[in-house]
Amino acid sequence: MQIGIDKINFYTPHLYVDMNKLAIARNQEPEKFTIGIGQDEMAVAPITQDPVTLAANAAWNMLDEADKEQIDFVIFGTESGIDHSKSGAVYVHHLLGLKKEARAIEVKQACYGGTAAIQLAKGHIALNPTSKVLVLASDIARYGLNTPGEVTQGAGAVAILISADPRILVLEDEVSYRTDEIMDFWRPVYSDTAYVDGKYSNEQYISFFSHVWTAHKEKTGFDLNDFEALCYHLPYTKMGLKALRTIYDDKTEADKERLVENYQISTRYNRKVGNIYTASLYLSLLSLLEQQENLRDGSRIGLFSYGSGAVGEFFTGILQPNYRKYLHTAEHTTMFEKRQEVSIAEYEEIFKQELPKDGSTLDLNIEEDPAPICVAGIKDHMRQYVNKQKV
Ligand code: HMG
Repeated sequence: MQIGIDKINFYTPHLYVDMNKLAIARNQEPEKFTIGIGQDEMAVAPITQDPVTLAANAAWNMLDEADKEQIDFVIFGTESGIDHSKSGAVYVHHLLGLKKEARAIEVKQACYGGTAAIQLAKGHIALNPTSKVLVLASDIARYGLNTPGEVTQGAGAVAILISADPRILVLEDEVSYRTDEIMDFWRPVYSDTAYVDGKYSNEQYISFFSHVWTAHKEKTGFDLNDFEALCYHLPYTKMGLKALRTIYDDKTEADKERLVENYQISTRYNRKVGNIYTASLYLSLLSLLEQQENLRDGSRIGLFSYGSGAVGEFFTGILQPNYRKYLHTAEHTTMFEKRQEVSIAEYEEIFKQELPKDGSTLDLNIEEDPAPICVAGIKDHMRQYVNKQKV
């Protein structure tokens, strides 16, 4: 049986910051942010969006009634979840109106959570071929104002429907993974911003890529010419390029040109959104599928997932006939076109806003947020979620 991605969609909030302006405000040369880091814009989540609503918004227009009938497992990968106990998956399951005969869980291992969810989903479909699994990868990346990591923040979510006989990408069975206990990036439960050893995290990312890429080549016999494109977890878009550069030096010009061109295309959406942790790799895959018009059906795509702390994984997929028909390219173009730029002062103000933690009630104005699904406030420590379009 073939299992893989049947549908895929993403959502990012309606506000963004221009990285040239952020660089100037931080006394940096704009080229450091736009070329050295490789980010043009950074999505900013208003207080009316959290990882639950971002995920629900990503899935909302993607599912039809038949999908809803078949989904019996919702897996939510995140590292910026809103509750230490209850999973984000349960909220999204309700906001989307999914059937109650389903499982719903949250998984965590830094940015690897989305990939872990996909692999769990594959196992579930292997045992239950007629069901479908909704995988959600959703995060708001926060390092803090005026920190070196600030330029690598972002907000957004990707929703993926995993099924048998998928219409977009069949995931191949051979997978190579690695775990090692390292402290490159972490977020203690008392902190709402991440701690990071930036340079060390870059080195570890490359080292994990090197290990799983080598292991995968040995296991499968694949080499660069077997891949039409490689997609990377993108904490910032220069990072994947650094990893790609480590493997093409002794290869043919044709391999190098193809992979670099496809890599650049695979970073287009990420350049405008920033790091969305668990969802970054899948945003990059979407960027490639929607923006590269020359990809052929049957092409093999390699995917490198990295979650600090750390777990790395390399896996592959084969593009299915007419996959373009099942993408939402026009909607994503419109979503980017409709975004509103905020000034640095406005972004800083939004960054500092938080929901009360003392049990008091707060009602938020959700009319200013064009998203269908919003946080409308908090009451008795319970977030009040609203789906404006659910009848
Ligand atoms: P930094 O120290 O501000 O930057 O931090 P830098 O001095 O290293 O400069 C960055 C690049 O800009 C360099 O290029 C400079 O040469 C270049 P590189 O040598 O790296 O190729 N540069 C310029 N280029 C053009 N024109 C100029 C110019 N000036 C300088 N004028 C750092 C950068 C990424 C370390 C920081 O932002 C950070 O700590 N970010 C967060 C950590 C991170 O993203 N790590 C990535 C790997 S770990 C990972 O992917 C997991 C993660 O997603 C978390 C998870 O798993 O949950 C983070």
